[in-house]
Amino acid sequence: MTSSNEVPDGFLAGCMDRLETPATIAMAQRARALKARGEQVLSLALGEPDFPTPAGVIEAAHRAALDGQTKYPPVEGTPALKAAIIRKFARENGLTYEPSEIMVSNGGKQVIFNAFMATVNPGDEVIVPRPYWVSYPLIISLFGGVPVFVDCPEESGFRLDAAALEAAITPRTKWLVLNFPNNPTGATTTRADLEAIAEVLRRHPRVHVLSDEIYEHLVYDGQAHVSIAQVAPDLKSRVLTLNGVSKAYAMTGWRVGYVGGPAGLIRAMASIQSSSTSGICSISQAASVAALDGPSGVVEVMRETYDRRRRMVVGALRQIPQLTCAMPLGAFYVYPGIAACIGRTSAGGRLIRTDEDFAIALLEEQHVAVVHGSAFGKGPYLRLSYATSDEILVDACGRIATFVAGLT
Ligand SMILES: Cc1ncc(COP(=O)(O)O)c(C=O)c1O
Repeated sequence: MTSSNEVPDGFLAGCMDRLETPATIAMAQRARALKARGEQVLSLALGEPDFPTPAGVIEAAHRAALDGQTKYPPVEGTPALKAAIIRKFARENGLTYEPSEIMVSNGGKQVIFNAFMATVNPGDEVIVPRPYWVSYPLIISLFGGVPVFVDCPEESGFRLDAAALEAAITPRTKWLVLNFPNNPTGATTTRADLEAIAEVLRRHPRVHVLSDEIYEHLVYDGQAHVSIAQVAPDLKSRVLTLNGVSKAYAMTGWRVGYVGGPAGLIRAMASIQSSSTSGICSISQAASVAALDGPSGVVEVMRETYDRRRRMVVGALRQIPQLTCAMPLGAFYVYPGIAACIGRTSAGGRLIRTDEDFAIALLEEQHVAVVHGSAFGKGPYLRLSYATSDEILVDACGRIATFVAGLT
């Protein structure tokens, strides 16, 4: 028998056994607990821009509220936002979509949830390149699907090799998840890579693609982002192109993600959303129109700042002899390798057997929060987000150097 404030045995659904707290959120919770004890914690753990939402976007939200845009919006998105999304896909990705092929959700996360809930039966396989954003396997498993991981090694820039992809496809494969620029590695992809992947997909006509392009605007060193539906127009009818305003426009709290894809699938996803959240906050949708139609200079200023920080953080980490650190080409994460630290003992007496041990000891002893790479399926690495101030980054890199120097 359980105590009165616990759930009775057997009451929770079986799927709850498969649902874990994402490590990114768990690490943020640990950092918060330390802060509650009065400690000053430097957090490089969360993938959240430190910029404010652009003023023009906030003004548009204010106007929308005063204009009475305060009623239930359509489940699949307001006509105004869907039109702005269609313009965005045409302008930035060379993709043409009809309104029936567009849907707006509570962040990109709900797009993924809707897509997998609408399509994944128990035992269906979803190919997830590794390292991966933690939510993909969690959501796939929630619906009884089987995440099938394909390794993207550091030596090849964490890119997805077409032959490795093909080797992982089975008759049960329903989806391939692509995420470039990538969370957690910052890897990007090239037109040539996508062409090779498309060639594989042509041989497997049942496999659909969820292309998560939420970090699209954050690419560096003169690269241009490419979408698989653009590279392989013949595959567009089985590609979901996912994007959102969270990362590019510093709008994580507004909860707006969107997707372009085949009308039948979008209809099924809208059907699921109509039974869960219904339409997305009308004010957030009005704000997102202003973001997507607004001046691109706003995004460019943030991108340039991330770029500068990226080089600063990689430069600092490369000064630490025990770490390896590839230069990421996109997003706002670096993914240093810590193999040389495994098996050592920290200055505080903690044995570092894994990258998780490293992350916990770093937090406890130097008050720097990062996420261990094994949480993204690939250790021993760390994921550091540089979407935070220069001062915090300089201080945090110094503390990491002190921590590593103290290992014996
Ligand atoms: C790769 C990736 N996709 C999707 C999302 C979802 O973002 P949101 O739900 O805020 O749109 C995130 C957020 O961290 C992400 O890193």
